[in-house]
Amino acid sequence: MKDIMTAPVVMELIRTVTNMYDHGWDERNGGNVSVMLDEAELAEYLDLTRVQRTILTGFSAPELDGRYFLVTGTGKYFKNVQYEPCRNLGIVRLRDGGTNAELLWGFSDGGKFTSEFPAHMMSHVARLSVEPQNRIVMHCHPANLLAMTYVHDLDEVKFTRTLWQMCTECIVVFPDGVNVLPWMLCGTNEIGEATAKKMETARLVVWAQHGIYGAGKDLDETFGLIETAEKAAEIYMKIAHLPRVNTITDEAMHQLEVHFGVKAREGYLE
Ligand code: 13P
Ligand code: ZN
Repeated sequence: MKDIMTAPVVMELIRTVTNMYDHGWDERNGGNVSVMLDEAELAEYLDLTRVQRTILTGFSAPELDGRYFLVTGTGKYFKNVQYEPCRNLGIVRLRDGGTNAELLWGFSDGGKFTSEFPAHMMSHVARLSVEPQNRIVMHCHPANLLAMTYVHDLDEVKFTRTLWQMCTECIVVFPDGVNVLPWMLCGTNEIGEATAKKMETARLVVWAQHGIYGAGKDLDETFGLIETAEKAAEIYMKIAHLPRVNTITDEAMHQLEVHFGVKAREGYLE
């Protein structure tokens, strides 16, 4: 059996959450990431019959029964993950229609997965239904996106269009736009269900006055998605109080669509 610490997905998650912390997106225990794992690959590193303990999830997700996830722990600091992966991360297998999670590795101090596990698992279900290659759900608290939710209309078309106008390549990176939830109590099944519903039509979901969720097929892509939206929000926060003299026109956006072979979300451009 190979050492789980040498598994590429574990090493990549450690690098990613360290990078997220370094970007200032994950103060204290802020943020959480889940990665859906391949059973055959995981079997090279762990004895999948050795369940350490079973943890109640508090929701059901029959579509994910038998699926494996590498996930960050609740209350754990991203800055510490690289030094103690086994304490700050865990690998679980969902069972009994998703109502139970069997711990196979990690959470070595008796901890458990993120309090946002419902939003993560429900978002995996939603994204898999539209994008079978989806493996990642990522949540964090980037300052400029958060700031923007205090001063910008939360209407999804308006919010998306503003972000698209802030950097030329935004429309190429997230042509599906950004969906937005109003402030809701975090860590609940309700916000999980609402997030998953929004994930059916976009890979980015902003939680007003809280942060953002991203989904994608790998960690690089998902990180890049949030990084691009956050960069656009940063430009917006630099210029929002100044007179706008120039912008990226809808006509320019259409040129980008043709040149990069992407299709902007229906009805979002003139
Ligand atoms: P956890 O520490 O439970 O992952 O919560 C962090 C967070 O960002 C809640 O939204
Ligand atoms: Zn959060």
